[in-house]
Amino acid sequence: MEKVIPKNGEIELEKNRYLVSETDAKGVITYCNDYFTKISGYSREELIGHQHNIIRHPDMPKVIFRLLWQRIQSGKNINAVVKNLAKDGNYYWIFTEFKTRIDLDDNSVIGYTAHRKSISHDAVDVIASLYSKLKEIEEESSMDDAEKYLNEFLKEQGKEINFVNLLDHIHKFY
Ligand SMILES: Cc1cc2nc3c(=O)[nH]c(=O)nc-3n(C[C@H](O)[C@H](O)[C@H](O)COP(=O)(O)O)c2cc1C
Repeated sequence: MEKVIPKNGEIELEKNRYLVSETDAKGVITYCNDYFTKISGYSREELIGHQHNIIRHPDMPKVIFRLLWQRIQSGKNINAVVKNLAKDGNYYWIFTEFKTRIDLDDNSVIGYTAHRKSISHDAVDVIASLYSKLKEIEEESSMDDAEKYLNEFLKEQGKEINFVNLLDHIHKFY
């Protein structure tokens, strides 16, 4: 597939409509709903059988995906804010709930599901400046240093705040 050149246009999402996709245990897309295909700009044929990095935005820090995978691979759910790249180069920010589907017979991972919806501009502002700092650290230093910075940021937010509940915290305060 051709490389998408990012543009500055933001795609506004309808409130309370979910962009849903599912993958197998390796992260290969096996399902996506109509709203996901509509907003991403890709047809179902272009998405199914591929990884989600087809819609990865270059502004996203790598450390966020590393933490995401560590979490879901251990069978734990997580919410995260993600900036995605549409086929036309424009972007959209989404609040995403990641869930791991487990085979209860042998506890193995069957696959993963993502439910995405719109998020307030105020919450995006907080996250966007955090992510741009993490990205800068990754470029100038390393992903491990970006993770250290993230942990310091979380500590400053309060004792009980971690990567998993950061979003709930931001939702409450912004
Ligand atoms: C169910 C599920 C949904 C995902 N959704 C997205 C997404 O919307 N945007 C995204 O950039 N990555 C998403 N990812 C993460 C990608 O698989 C990938 O790790 C990420 O795009 C970073 O690309 P890379 O692993 O090639 O560096 C999702 C992963 C899973 C398992």
